[in-house]
Amino acid sequence: MKAFVYFSNATQPLSDVDLKTLARQARTKNSVAGVTSYLFFWDNGVFLHYFEGPDEKVEDLMKRLANDNRHQIEFQLSQPNFTSRRFPDDSLAFHVGGTQKGIFRLEEVVKQQLEYCRDGIGRVERWSEKIWLNLDKIANITFAQPSEY
Ligand SMILES: Cc1cc2nc3c(=O)[nH]c(=O)nc-3n(C[C@H](O)[C@H](O)[C@H](O)COP(=O)(O)O)c2cc1C
Repeated sequence: MKAFVYFSNATQPLSDVDLKTLARQARTKNSVAGVTSYLFFWDNGVFLHYFEGPDEKVEDLMKRLANDNRHQIEFQLSQPNFTSRRFPDDSLAFHVGGTQKGIFRLEEVVKQQLEYCRDGIGRVERWSEKIWLNLDKIANITFAQPSEY
């Protein structure tokens, strides 16, 4: 199995209906592929997306995501030799958040750490260790919280 995480910028404004459609289609496809996933969307149009599953299925999804013109992927990271799913029950857990100052979310931290990797601020290996640990925490925090979309 393999896990991927990336952050991306939406290339166009996305309405509630757009997000609902995206979530519905993604859940259907992920269920068939045996992919489990976590998607976070900030109201300024940024996505943080994590997914896990059989190597060829997650690689195929990464290719589809890279070709999807609704967003532009800024940085991606993969965790090879990964064995235990973080979101075993979710074809797509989908949470949203604002960008107000003072509201602390771990998703923000992961996005920042991905930016450090992208910009070469410190070693990728060191940041990636922290990123996977933060994703463990996000999985624990969001466990049993209903998806917003
Ligand atoms: C932010 C974002 C997240 C997405 N997440 C998924 C996903 O988890 N699973 C999925 O199958 N498609 C997801 N999609 C849609 C894919 O990019 C792609 O459009 C879809 O899988 C259909 O691909 P196809 O037309 O090549 O079959 C997502 C798209 C966006 C913009």
